[in-house]
Amino acid sequence: MNTVTTPARAGSAAAAGPGSAPAASPAALSCPPAGLPAATAPAATTPAGLVGNTPLLWVGEPFADPGRGFWAKLEGANPGGIKDRTALHMVRAARGRGELAPGARIVESTSGTLGLGLALAGVTYGHPVTVVTDPGLEPMMGGLLAAHGAEVHVVERPHPVGGWQRARRDRVAELVAAHPGSWCPDQYNNPDNAAAYRTLAYELVAQLGRIDALVVSVGTGGHSAGVGSVLRGFFPALKVVGVDTTGSTIFGQPAAPRLMRGLGSSIHPRNVAYDLFDEVHWVAADEAVWAARRLARCHYATGGWSVGAVALTARWLAATLPAEARIAAVFPDGPQRYASTVFSDPYCREHGLLRSAPPHRPQVIAHPGERTVTSWTRCAAVADPLAGPAAGAGRTGGGAPDAPTGTAAGAGAPRTGVRR
Ligand SMILES: Cc1ncc(COP(=O)(O)O)c(C=O)c1O
Repeated sequence: MNTVTTPARAGSAAAAGPGSAPAASPAALSCPPAGLPAATAPAATTPAGLVGNTPLLWVGEPFADPGRGFWAKLEGANPGGIKDRTALHMVRAARGRGELAPGARIVESTSGTLGLGLALAGVTYGHPVTVVTDPGLEPMMGGLLAAHGAEVHVVERPHPVGGWQRARRDRVAELVAAHPGSWCPDQYNNPDNAAAYRTLAYELVAQLGRIDALVVSVGTGGHSAGVGSVLRGFFPALKVVGVDTTGSTIFGQPAAPRLMRGLGSSIHPRNVAYDLFDEVHWVAADEAVWAARRLARCHYATGGWSVGAVALTARWLAATLPAEARIAAVFPDGPQRYASTVFSDPYCREHGLLRSAPPHRPQVIAHPGERTVTSWTRCAAVADPLAGPAAGAGRTGGGAPDAPTGTAAGAGAPRTGVRR
C-alpha cells in the first residue's frame, strides 16, 4: 500500500502510471537500449512514465484535532503537479482522434500547473507548446515553463467584463488562428480533462480500500469531476466536498479580485460536475496561507493556495465526521512555486495575509445568493449558476475588476479540442 504516516517518502512503482506513453505513438523521446538489468527503484523509460502512483500522507495531530485526521494525496510528487495527468491524457486523446496532428502546436490558457503538464506532453510527444497566462504568474513558474521549452505569453490587462481569464482565452483564440494546424485543449470544457483523473481515483481506492469523504479544490472542475464520479461509483454514500476561493464565480458567488491561483474562476467552466458535490466551502487567501504554512511546519508536506484551502476544510471535516470516517484530500501540487507568495513574509504582509489561526469552523449560508462571502464559509446547496434563474437569485455584490457579469461560460473561447 503506497501510503505513509510520516514525511519519509515511501517507494512507489511508478512505471505503469497513467502517463506511460503508448508504444504505438510516435514519441519524441527514444527508449533505453534493450538488455539492461531491471530497475528495483521506481523507474520509467520516459518522464511521462513518472506521472501517477503518487503517495498518501496521514495528516493528523498537530494540524488536526487529537484522534482525528485525513489522508492527503500528494500530487506534487508528479514531475509537474496534478495537471501532468490531464495534459498527457488530453494530448493523447486528441492525437488519437486526429485533432492534433504530429508536430502541431499546442496553445492553452493556464495559471501555471497545466502549462508544466503541457510542456511534459510536448516533450513526450514532440509538440511545440505555447501557454498564455497573466501577470499573476510567479516569476519562478514562468522560468520553469520556459526552461521546459514552453513559449510563454503574458496578457497585459484584464478583459473589461470577463477579467484575466477572458483576456487569456481571447489571446489563445488569436494565437490558434495565427498558427494553422494548432490545437487548444480547452481544459475548462474538455471532458478529457475530467476523464484523465480516473486513474487518481483508482489509486485512492487501492491505497485506502474504503473512502467516506473526498475533499477537492475546484478550478476547471477537472479533478473533482474525474475523481469524484469514480469514487461515488465505488462508494455510493461518499461525501464530496468542493473547495473554492472567495471571489470566485464557480458556485454562484459574484466575482471579485482574487489572489489565489489554481482554484477558483471568473468564468463558469463546464467541466464542473455540480451534481457530485454535497457542499462547497469558500476559503479566503489569508486562511489558506495560514493552513499551508502550518502544514509545512507541522507535517512538512504542503503546497500553495489550493492545498491550504483543502487542508483547512479537510481538518474541519475530520473534526465533524465520526472518528472512524476515512477522508481523502487531494493536494494538487507542492510548495516550491509559492516561495514568492504564500511563503513570502513581505508578500503576505503587503496583502494582509499574516493572521492568527482562522476559526475552527466555517460560517454557513443556506444558498450562494444569500450574501457575498469574504471568509471561510460553507453551503450545502450546490447548483450550476448557469442552470436557471433560481440558482443565482438574490446575489449581492459584483462589479469587481475580474467580474464576468453577463458573460456566458466559455464566451470568446476556442471550442474544445478543435484544430484550426
Ligand atoms: C495548484 C492547483 N490547484 C487546484 C487546481 C484546480 O484543479 P481543477 O482545474 O482540476 O479543478 C488547479 C488547476 O489549475 C491548480 O493548478
